[in-house]
Amino acid sequence: MCGIIGCVGRGDETLDTLVHGLAKLEYRGYDSAGVALATDTVDVCKKSGKIDDLRAALESRTLSGPVGIGHTRWSTHGPPTDENAHPHRDCRGEVAVVHNGIIENYQSLRDELASAGHEFRSDTDTEVVPHLIEDALADGANPETAVREAIARLEGSYAVAVVIAGVDAIFAARNDSPLVLGIDDGEEGTGDAPGGAYYLASDVPAFRDHTDRVVYLDDGEFARLSSRGWRVTTLDGEPVEKAVDTVDWDPEETGKSGYDHFMLKEIHEQPRALRQCLRGRVDELSGTVDLGDLGDLTPRAVQFVACGTSYHAAIYAAQLFEEAGIPAKAYLASEYASKTPPIGDALVIGVTQSGETADTLSALREARRRGARTLAVTNTVGSTAARECDHTLYIRAGPEIGVAATKTFASQLAALNLLSLSVTSVSDSRDVIAGLRELPGAVQEILDDSNAEAVAETYGDAGAYFFIGRGLHYPVALEGALKMKEITYKHAEGFAAGELKHGPLALVTENTPVFAVVTGDDEMARKTIGNVKEVEARDAPVVAVTDGQSDVERYADHVLRVPDTHRRIAAVVANVQLQLVAYHTAAQLDRSIDKPRNLAKSVTVE
Ligand code: M6R
Repeated sequence: MCGIIGCVGRGDETLDTLVHGLAKLEYRGYDSAGVALATDTVDVCKKSGKIDDLRAALESRTLSGPVGIGHTRWSTHGPPTDENAHPHRDCRGEVAVVHNGIIENYQSLRDELASAGHEFRSDTDTEVVPHLIEDALADGANPETAVREAIARLEGSYAVAVVIAGVDAIFAARNDSPLVLGIDDGEEGTGDAPGGAYYLASDVPAFRDHTDRVVYLDDGEFARLSSRGWRVTTLDGEPVEKAVDTVDWDPEETGKSGYDHFMLKEIHEQPRALRQCLRGRVDELSGTVDLGDLGDLTPRAVQFVACGTSYHAAIYAAQLFEEAGIPAKAYLASEYASKTPPIGDALVIGVTQSGETADTLSALREARRRGARTLAVTNTVGSTAARECDHTLYIRAGPEIGVAATKTFASQLAALNLLSLSVTSVSDSRDVIAGLRELPGAVQEILDDSNAEAVAETYGDAGAYFFIGRGLHYPVALEGALKMKEITYKHAEGFAAGELKHGPLALVTENTPVFAVVTGDDEMARKTIGNVKEVEARDAPVVAVTDGQSDVERYADHVLRVPDTHRRIAAVVANVQLQLVAYHTAAQLDRSIDKPRNLAKSVTVE
């Protein structure tokens, strides 16, 4: 999704700061990029393509100024062309605007502005904003009021940042799209710090190299950043007291640390992420879990809302709650409002790594409107989900840059295990806790000794990939397929193992490897092995992901071994093998692994 950066107070380094910030936002997914710097004029440089294309375009330009904004665009209105890239300007070229989100009433605003004589140069919804500001300025409003008046006319979702010729400030506002301020040398709450440098961005990594002090804007808020300080008000100008938070992760964590891709680095970070997730939360001796100030949850029923990988974690968690006798269901967040399940005493849990996914936020808001208590299970401190929900459980995975979710999925599963242990009564809680304690080591064992790369080489040119599993391994099968398709661009599907024979079996051939997740040696494992035999009889290659407890290996062409662990934990470790297969398959195909085509890390539109 689009990424915004802005800075003031960096003097001659303004342009470099903006471009560096944009590079840090690349992980969000984008197809064009641009910057605007303001002095007595506003200069813009923007290009479709990658940030390197923007850098190349900047070589033949001299852009300078003490205040600037930048943007990476993920197309919604109009194709990725130079014209459609942000920043967008007004007719006189004195106002420049970057925007993340969707302006729903842009067509009527555009018609109105066009009939008043404004000329549009792009297909975007965003371009109405500089023209609205231009009109307000022409009517005599001062720059800040002009921006407020223009923003007040917008309907939809937006994070907007604006610079104006001759004005030493950035104006910004948010509604339903994330925006965070970075404060360097500012005094808390006063905004009175001559000589400071101030930033704004869609996400902290954009300016984390410069400061760790942040202010999260909320919906309906308006910010003014200048070299003299920062100020937050409502859109109507009422002052808002904002807390300055400190982010506790190191800028180094957002580097590749020698790995070829962020995805591989993040797969390898899983043991550490899991340890962080568990630290201080479990007591093995007493078999208890302490989730700190989560409050008294004791739900009678649970509804999960989530998207993509997080939805797979939600399916897994729903089963844990069901097993503990608490009715639970996982909903695709984008479908939740149309299902309107009865809320009753249900706790609605949004599972979202970013805490900014528009579909999930919208489902959580719908749940709250209907009287539910809400809990965010998220990785991102200060995210919208964390701020809007009644309770928050952090998964503590650390920053995840690769678009493909890996360590955050593992940490979600661990955190949801902790949640289920803390609010339900689980008969073998001591065993689960012991399993959780062993989990980081079990993942490390796989990372140290996986043959996933060889398996990926064997099946690199397969026509399609299928993944099957039962019970807690069903979401693992779905996740294995999602990872494979999103980074290899090849067809991959996950199925409940028993469903294969009800249709998908027609797709199975000698050119479609089937990855079967089978751990333990219980009734469920035996039934899955039955499904493996059905596949084998149709000549499909079988890759068993197994702990060696059952005899599934007899029917498999390849084995991806996982340690023998508690059945809840087996799902987490099995998934690591599938992450590695997807990664190595994509690497062989030379795909853009960290930024797969058409995808974004943080999906902030519905
Ligand atoms: O930030 P979220 O967890 O809410 O994101 C939801 C999905 O967009 C996300 O899980 C997506 O499916 C993964 N990046 C895929 O690897």
